[in-house]
Amino acid sequence: MQNLSIAVIESLDHEARGVTHVDGKAVFIDGALPGETVTYKALKRKPNYDFGEVVEVMKSSNARTEPKCEYFGICGGCALQHMELSAQVAAKQRLLEANLWHISKVKSGRILPAIHGPGWGYRHKARLRARNVPKKGGVLVGFNEKASSYVANMQSCKILPPHVSALIVPLQQLIAQLTIRDRLPQIEVAVGEAATVLVLRILEPLQPQDAPLLRDFADAHGVQIWTQSKGPDTVMPFYPLDGAALDYTLPEFDLRFPFKPTEFTQVNPHINRVMIRRAMQLLQPQANERIADFFCGLGNFTLPIARSGSRVSGFEGSAALVARAVESAQLNGLQHSTEFSEADLFLMTPEKLAALGRFNKWLIDPPRDGALELVKSLPAAEDQAGTRPDRIVYVACNPATLARDAGLLVHQKGYRLAACGVINMFPHTTHVESIALFERV
Ligand SMILES: C[S@@+](CC[C@H](N)C(=O)[O-])C[C@H]1O[C@@H](n2cnc3c(N)ncnc32)[C@H](O)[C@@H]1O
Repeated sequence: MQNLSIAVIESLDHEARGVTHVDGKAVFIDGALPGETVTYKALKRKPNYDFGEVVEVMKSSNARTEPKCEYFGICGGCALQHMELSAQVAAKQRLLEANLWHISKVKSGRILPAIHGPGWGYRHKARLRARNVPKKGGVLVGFNEKASSYVANMQSCKILPPHVSALIVPLQQLIAQLTIRDRLPQIEVAVGEAATVLVLRILEPLQPQDAPLLRDFADAHGVQIWTQSKGPDTVMPFYPLDGAALDYTLPEFDLRFPFKPTEFTQVNPHINRVMIRRAMQLLQPQANERIADFFCGLGNFTLPIARSGSRVSGFEGSAALVARAVESAQLNGLQHSTEFSEADLFLMTPEKLAALGRFNKWLIDPPRDGALELVKSLPAAEDQAGTRPDRIVYVACNPATLARDAGLLVHQKGYRLAACGVINMFPHTTHVESIALFERV
């Protein structure tokens, strides 16, 4: 018989596991929500903590709901479908505040209303895995199984736009017919406003007999098929060769951004629009100001800032994205008020930063590693003649590195955390996106 224990769940960890303590030792329990009493079985025991899995929920949380997706618990794409959407947002807000406090002893002056939107069909960018597994009936296409490198056996996905979800089964059938069915490990999906592109990662060349199958698929489903044989430079259209460009618009700022399918764009376009509006409210760009947009990508924030009349410099590590940003600035008539530079911002130094001159304001939107070197390069709080900006709006996809950088800004660089809040960019997943406003004291 299994050895079961009873626990009352205290909180949720960053991977959506319920946390409890037994004799002072933390236990992380998969499938349990805060406030619940559950029985669980231990899965792994470590010296300082244990992992377990819910067997029965004896007293259920008001936040518990029936997962909508039949693959929940198997597919690793979502971890929070058993929690009401509004409770997910609240849990993410608590996690953000807890990170700020526990990592850096920083409290926010104000908590901003959370930004949230539709819970389903939001994911306009996705990497689907593909694998030919004859003993499971053929080719599987989907996300990885939870905590595993196996591809989940799934026929649909509710967080993908419905027309993309509807492609999963046809894609399985298509790949099964290709000569390279064992050499096609990934399909990258990019949905624009006028086009949907599927980039097939191919480890061996397609053969002539594959071409009509791919063309028929593209025509039947109204998508473009691209291929990638090696690095990012090998991403190219296969059929049609003259398809509509991927793009997205920001009507509030009268902006249009063309992009290539594998280039970084925000996954959730509905939330992106609201996030940009929020960033502008916090940044308050003025016509006479000089503003820096660090980790600017294709100019998603740079161009809306430039619409206010300020001069904006975007800094970005990917040469392709810098080129795309320059193109978009031109397309939108903002080439005179913007400039873009390729720079590895993880190698920032005080000297390099000083050489850029003073910016009135900064917007920072780094990857998960955060912006440590950039923040470290700011002059210390005591340096009155320094080049510190008056305001920094920090958009973060990792609350732990935001908290670390906030600690430096607040305790060493003379800023206060005036406001912060979460952005539910990825409903039902454990990703915590957030935005924070730092003001120079
Ligand atoms: C979260 S994305 C934000 C992009 C853009 N702000 C947007 O909203 O679309 C982070 C960006 O940082 C860039 N990046 C990653 N590492 C970098 C580095 N070491 N130096 C400069 N840019 C980097 C990525 O290429 C990516 O464009």
